Amino acid sequence: MHYFQYHNNEMYCEDVPVQTIARQVGTPFYLYSHATLTRHFKAFNDAFEGLDRLVCFSAKANTSMAVLKLLAKLGSGLDIVSGGELFRGLKAGFSPDHIVYSGVGKRVDEIDFALEAGILMFNIESLEELELIQLRAAALHKKAFVSIRVNPDVDPKTHPYISTGLKKNKFGIDTESALSAYQRASRMSHISIVGIDCHIGSQITEIQPFEDALKSLKSLIQRLGTMGIPIRYLDMGGGLGITYREESPPQPFEYARAISNVLGDLKIQLILEPGRVIVGNAGILVTQVLYRKKGLVKEFVITDAGMNDLMRPILYNAYHEALPVVQSSGEPFTADIVGPICETGDFLAQDRQLTPVQSGDLLALMSAGAYGFVMSSNYCSRLRAAEVMVKGDQFAVIKNRETYADLIAGESVPAFI
Ligand code: LLP
Repeated sequence: MHYFQYHNNEMYCEDVPVQTIARQVGTPFYLYSHATLTRHFKAFNDAFEGLDRLVCFSAKANTSMAVLKLLAKLGSGLDIVSGGELFRGLKAGFSPDHIVYSGVGKRVDEIDFALEAGILMFNIESLEELELIQLRAAALHKKAFVSIRVNPDVDPKTHPYISTGLKKNKFGIDTESALSAYQRASRMSHISIVGIDCHIGSQITEIQPFEDALKSLKSLIQRLGTMGIPIRYLDMGGGLGITYREESPPQPFEYARAISNVLGDLKIQLILEPGRVIVGNAGILVTQVLYRKKGLVKEFVITDAGMNDLMRPILYNAYHEALPVVQSSGEPFTADIVGPICETGDFLAQDRQLTPVQSGDLLALMSAGAYGFVMSSNYCSRLRAAEVMVKGDQFAVIKNRETYADLIAGESVPAFI
């Protein structure tokens, strides 16, 4: 459920016509709905009512400061994967002890930053990382709180590039090796074991893979208990899918019920790292039609947003619904919606039935709030889009469109040229 709806054939975000924003801000721009973000966070968090839990929004899905600040105010924690995300998270007001840090390639400076900040825990992905964190914690006279990310070898049945819990993936430590990693960690002077973690993938539309992963973690927790290693936090990662087209992913309450059933009477504090399910359907990308062009075998609608603005179609063959901002009547036609970039992969949508559009019309690429702006780039020296948030009848630019000056900021031409 989201708040991008038509009234009299015109698309609104909450109470603001999308067209009004386009006139003032220009195109392309990402547009987020405050009410949708709030609703999604609350629905997810409330689904776990009765369970001791901390929902840590996965920053990588959307790191806009306004989005982060809103989620922090709603009581979210934060899942980060870089020093940059930690920086943003602290600036946005997340309490350090509500921040968990995952990722296979944490650098020394990032580890030090997180130790100094006093985060809740590091999700350890390899033995070498464990050794390094012990060394850095000792050097800084800090205690590092850790969980080990376990790779449960579960197929999340999603796109291969976003499956992370299979043994062929680079993530986590297999269950048997995890036991010895825990033993090793328990003997380290500056490491304090607090949790266990997994994240099996993203855009998961079935419950079963989550249940399988949780069963595997639960049995590890019990084995660790018999080894005298108590576990306080169980981090299930993120991954719950959303509807882009016809998918019918489990609702947060169904997901929560399944988790609760598997947990049974295990006394544990649950950590969840949802990203997409909170922001995905709370954002759209608005673009303007530049031209229509008829090829010999295909028709193209050429827009001012391209693959540099929304990478998901070319990267994962992802589907984003393309809707007219103002609905028109007339014969529908089939076309590819493509950007201005000189690559055949520069498409936003392929073979779509569209109502008539012409140059100057606005199109909305739906469900673009997660992994949209954050994955955009300056390829072809294109300016990254503006970001806007609506709350009720107000809207605000939360990130300015880049300028040509921004493009070369930080560059220098050395004297030897
Ligand atoms: N926790 C960890 C450790 C993760 O690696 C991820 C996502 C999440 C949580 C959040 O997962 P979510 O709830 O959003 O599914 N760029 C891709 C998605 C990559 C996901 C990477 N990890 C896309 O556009 O589909």
